[in-house]
Amino acid sequence: MVAGSIEVMTERRADPRTGASADPRTGASAGPSADPRTGASADPRTGPRADRRALIAAYWDAAAASFDGEADHGLGAAPTRAAWARRLRSWLPAEPADVLDVGCGTGSLSLLLAEDGHRVTGVDLAPRMVERARGKLAAAGRAGRFLAGDAMELPTGEERFGVVLCRHLLWTLPDPESALRAWVNRLRPGGRLVLIEGRWREADRSGGRPYVAGADTLPWCGGVGAGELAEAVRPLAGGGVRVEPLGDEAELWGGPVEDERYALIADV
Ligand SMILES: C[S@@+](CC[C@H](N)C(=O)[O-])C[C@H]1O[C@@H](n2cnc3c(N)ncnc32)[C@H](O)[C@@H]1O
Repeated sequence: MVAGSIEVMTERRADPRTGASADPRTGASAGPSADPRTGASADPRTGPRADRRALIAAYWDAAAASFDGEADHGLGAAPTRAAWARRLRSWLPAEPADVLDVGCGTGSLSLLLAEDGHRVTGVDLAPRMVERARGKLAAAGRAGRFLAGDAMELPTGEERFGVVLCRHLLWTLPDPESALRAWVNRLRPGGRLVLIEGRWREADRSGGRPYVAGADTLPWCGGVGAGELAEAVRPLAGGGVRVEPLGDEAELWGGPVEDERYALIADV
């Protein structure tokens, strides 16, 4: 494999908290010598950075059709859907807000937000995820704008939002801290960052097949603990940061979980 590239693994994954995959490290694969921090090329449209991005998008494209099979992805069961709707309501303003759902996947959370009257823009690297999200909202008769694009280079230009929400994306970004800064820059004054994250047990004991070869160079591969994420976000959030544990609410996940799950809410 070419250094700096990512090899897409085709194996079917079991636990897609982190994607189409049981384990955040079992997705697209970077070459053993690939360093996600150094793969950037001067021109993001060409070179290793573009190659990597295209391959990651291909991985998630391949995952899109089955992604909603997981309870917390598709929110197919009423108690799971209701549990997420309740939490979202508690994290978002009561009045309709402009919400950016970064790494929106198939749009399950976007749909709940739209049902609550928020104006949702979803961005995802994988065009098939974007198609699914569009289809999901259209089928439900809800409005939403969905764009294919990179969370690190948002395709929304100078537009600002009242809320930037992101679930289970940070672990796979080559430079999550710079993504956080970029998202905060897209918030209006008084805006809110809502991050739903975790550290996944499967990742810790994986020892076997990595998400990507060389994924251990992804700063938060396997997830990020609440303490570490709060430390990264605090300097960006003038209005304070709070963390809400989510691991004890089985309905959110379609069953009991033992690893760390939480939401971090930051006001800027
Ligand atoms: C684990 S899934 C989570 C999807 C959704 N947020 C959810 O919770 O159901 C991760 C998503 O992030 C997307 N993704 C991965 N890297 C991305 C990037 N650099 N920019 C935007 N989206 C990305 C993937 O295509 C995938 O849809």
